[in-house]
Amino acid sequence: MTDIARLFGIEFPVFAFSHCRDVVAAVSGTGGLGVFGASVFTPEEIEIELDWIDRHSHGGPYGIDFAFPPRATDSGPGAEPDLPAQHRAFVADLLNRYGVAEFPAGTDEERATYRGVDFGDYDEALEVVYRHPNCRLVVSALGTPPSGVVERAHAEGRLVAALAGKPEHAVRSVAAGVDIIVAQGSEAGGHAGSVSTMVLAPQVVDAVAPTPVLVAGGIASGRQMAAAMALGGAGVWTGSMWLATEESDLSPEMVQKIVTADSWQTVQTRSITGKPCRVVRSAWSDAWEAEGSPKPLPMPAQGFLVEDAMRRIERASRDRDTGGLELLTCPAGQVIGQLTKVSKASRLLLDMVEEYIECVEDLERRLVAE
Ligand SMILES: Cc1cc2nc3c(=O)[nH]c(=O)nc-3n(C[C@H](O)[C@H](O)[C@H](O)COP(=O)(O)O)c2cc1C
Repeated sequence: MTDIARLFGIEFPVFAFSHCRDVVAAVSGTGGLGVFGASVFTPEEIEIELDWIDRHSHGGPYGIDFAFPPRATDSGPGAEPDLPAQHRAFVADLLNRYGVAEFPAGTDEERATYRGVDFGDYDEALEVVYRHPNCRLVVSALGTPPSGVVERAHAEGRLVAALAGKPEHAVRSVAAGVDIIVAQGSEAGGHAGSVSTMVLAPQVVDAVAPTPVLVAGGIASGRQMAAAMALGGAGVWTGSMWLATEESDLSPEMVQKIVTADSWQTVQTRSITGKPCRVVRSAWSDAWEAEGSPKPLPMPAQGFLVEDAMRRIERASRDRDTGGLELLTCPAGQVIGQLTKVSKASRLLLDMVEEYIECVEDLERRLVAE
C-alpha cells in the first residue's frame, strides 16, 4: 500500500492508460487504476464506454484522459483547417504507391469523419464523467488543462492529473491546481518530449514536491517499476504494455508488429498528429522522413490530413495483395521490445507487482550483505 494507492483505494500504484475499455476494466478490476483514453470518442460514446467499465471493473475506480484543446479556440468543432495541396498530394501518392484503396463509396467507412485529439466538446464529455462516480481521475494528456477544468473536477470530488515532459510544464500544472503529475520520458509511446524517463523523473519529482508524481515511459516490468519508485515516483503510469493483451482492441496485424518489434523499431514522428509522437516505425514514418517529403503540418492540421489515410491503411493491412501492412503503424514505446507474446492484462499486472516486490526485497538483501 502506498500513499497514492490509499488516495484512490486501490491495491497497487499502477496506472494503465488505454483507449480500450476492456483493458481499463481489467486493470481497475485487478487492483490497479485503468485510465480510459477518451479523446477520439464523442460524449455519447463516452457514456456507453464508462457505463460498460462500471459494469466490468468490479467496483474498482478508474480515470479518463483527454487531449484538451486550449480554451477560446477559434478552431472549434467543425472548423477544418486548410490543408495544403502539396501535402494532400503527398499522402495520395504514398497510398497509391502501396496499393491502398479508397473506402467503398457510400459506406459508413467512407462517411466517418475526424474527431481526433484537438477536437471535441470537452465540457459535454466532462458532464458525462461527472455522472460516473467511479471515474475518480481526470487527466490532461497535453499538459496543463484549460482554465475551469480543475476547479470543476475538484467540486465534483475528482482528482486531476497532467502529463509533463519538462519540469517547468509540471510546475505550471501544479500552479493551476493539478493534483498529480505524470512525468513521461521520451521512450514512451505516444506524444512525448526528448528527455528519457531516467533523467526526467527525478527532476520533475524535485520540482513539484510534495505533489505526487507518477513515472511514465519504458515501464512494463517489476524491475522497471522498482526503478521508477526509486526515482521518487508515487506510482507508475504505463501505456505500451497493454497493447499486446487479450483485451486490447488493436488489429491482429498491429499486435503482430508489436510482439515482433525490438526496442529499436519505434521512432518519434510528427507525421501522425503534428506533434512528436513515438510510433512503431513503418513505411509511413520513413516516407515522411525521406528527402524531399513535406514537413508535417502543425497539430491539429496533420491529424485532419492523415486520419482517413490511417483508417484506409488499417483496412488495407488485412489484404496481403497491397502494401498496407508495410505502412501500418500505431503509437508505441521502446518498451515493446520486451513484449513477445499476447497476455491477459490482469496477469501482466500481477506479474509486474510480484516482480516489483521481489526486486525490492533483493535490493534490501544486497544492501544488508554489503
Ligand atoms: C497507443 C498509445 C496511445 C496513447 N495515447 C495517449 C493519449 O491519448 N493521451 C495520453 O495522455 N497519453 C497517451 N499515450 C501515452 C500514455 O499515456 C503513456 O504515458 C505512455 O504510454 C507511457 O509510456 P510507455 O508507452 O513506455 O508505457 C499513448 C500511448 C500509447 C502507447
